Amino acid sequence: MSVKAKAARESYTINTEYVLPNDTNHIGNLFGGKLMQWMDITSSVAAHRHCKRVVVTASVNNVSFQHPVKQGSIVTLEAKVSRAFSTSMEVFVDVWVEDLVTGERKKCNEAIFIFVAVDQNGSPLPVPELIPETDDEKLRFAGALRRRQLSLVLAGRMKPKEATELMSLFVD
Ligand SMILES: CC(C)(COP(=O)(O)OP(=O)(O)OC[C@H]1O[C@@H](n2cnc3c(N)ncnc32)[C@H](O)[C@@H]1OP(=O)(O)O)[C@@H](O)C(=O)NCCC(=O)NCCS
Repeated sequence: MSVKAKAARESYTINTEYVLPNDTNHIGNLFGGKLMQWMDITSSVAAHRHCKRVVVTASVNNVSFQHPVKQGSIVTLEAKVSRAFSTSMEVFVDVWVEDLVTGERKKCNEAIFIFVAVDQNGSPLPVPELIPETDDEKLRFAGALRRRQLSLVLAGRMKPKEATELMSLFVD
């Protein structure tokens, strides 16, 4: 299996869904857990496209539900790997809701997922490096190390004093 570096665009994944009655809460808005499921699936396909391995969700970070999404809406999820580390990958998923009359799209949610490539025993495997090309891809790539350290500190996997990227935010 080649671990040749890959462009971010090669992992681009898009998924469009109708918000059906079974997807909503008591007041007719898309249920957060349903959206999380769609985000997890869409972003795991992006991670798989990057590494061509089975991937498992290691962490879900920065989930924000900015606007309620009404039953009957058309929702589009776009996911792309923003950075690859040794065996883990950060994936951004952006969620858009489409005006049913004008077709205009409005960003309603986003989340950041961490996936790990694994073998059939669940042991982590190396993944290809990621090459960011566009300005947005470069911005997300640059911030990924800081977000990784925050995620690892919060998960108790890294000591705060080892989180050099985080410390540089607070110390001159
Ligand atoms: C994710 C998993 C494979 C990691 O296995 P592990 O034995 O802890 O392996 P490691 O410690 O080597 O970690 C593997 C990678 O995951 C990263 N990672 C693990 N937890 C992380 C977290 N909370 N945030 C960010 N990265 C994380 C590590 O930094 C490492 O990345 P790197 O190799 O790119 O440096 C393992 O914890 C697992 O199988 N978890 C369950 C996954 C699952 O079932 N998901 C579905 C949820 S129901």
